[in-house]
Amino acid sequence: MIIRTKDELKGFLCPSNNTGKTVGFVPTMGALHQGHLSLVQQALNENDLVVVSIFVNPTQFNNPEDLQRYPQNLEADVSLLKSLSPEVIVFAPAAKDLYQETISAKAYDFGSLTQFMEGQHRAGHFDGVATVVSLLFDAVNPDCAYFGEKDFQQLRVIQTLVQDQNLSISIVPCPIARNADGLALSSRNERLTEAQKKQASLLYRVLEQTQKSFAHQSLEQLRKSAKQAFSDQIDFDLEYFEIADAQTLTPAINIASGKKYRAFIAAHFHGVRLIDNLELN
Ligand code: PAF
Repeated sequence: MIIRTKDELKGFLCPSNNTGKTVGFVPTMGALHQGHLSLVQQALNENDLVVVSIFVNPTQFNNPEDLQRYPQNLEADVSLLKSLSPEVIVFAPAAKDLYQETISAKAYDFGSLTQFMEGQHRAGHFDGVATVVSLLFDAVNPDCAYFGEKDFQQLRVIQTLVQDQNLSISIVPCPIARNADGLALSSRNERLTEAQKKQASLLYRVLEQTQKSFAHQSLEQLRKSAKQAFSDQIDFDLEYFEIADAQTLTPAINIASGKKYRAFIAAHFHGVRLIDNLELN
């Protein structure tokens, strides 16, 4: 079932035959791949009803070209979802319906969570994400919402949003889905050839090497080796490589015992912006 408006969705979820049922929610921007489908499958396993939103959110794109080139194919997405379960409720609103008067992002303060990496390189991105996710939460009113760890900084922002706004939504982090070479699945990978996808797994190989060396190399050595691996490759333009505290997302200055750290990468490759991350300890 495809639902196009917030009113229609509320009308569908509210009647007595649906009250008391748990609602799982998977927000997406469409161009669905196995990574999304694994989130939807988990939501189906854990809830009575599952809503998947498909909405390419204009306010989170800091680059108009990226928005214009973002792959969109609602029909293909719906048939992929139906192949998982005919019961999945697809919510595909128009921007005017979701945002009402003005299609713009609110300003949020997430402190250190948005100061580095994606926050630093994509001005306004997390304001757009937090704005649309708030609007979607309001429309769907889910019990649980599923977010992939591929966008780890986004996941931490949404956990904080829910906490700050006292929402009774449980945020479920889901592991990164990868292809056989380790490349993190992403809608943007559609723009790469098979050979380029093989090369693009460099991001994962560098993260894996950092993980292996984490216990016995200094942060300086780890950062230097990762950057070196990219400077040797002319097809890649490394935007950032960072090792950060997994809770605060501030770049690590030294390693404190009892804390969790993650490595993060963003790189441009044949016109596609790739991101990935991996836990280090
Ligand atoms: O991760 C995404 O696809 C988007 O950022 C989200 C959460 C659907 C908000 O537009």
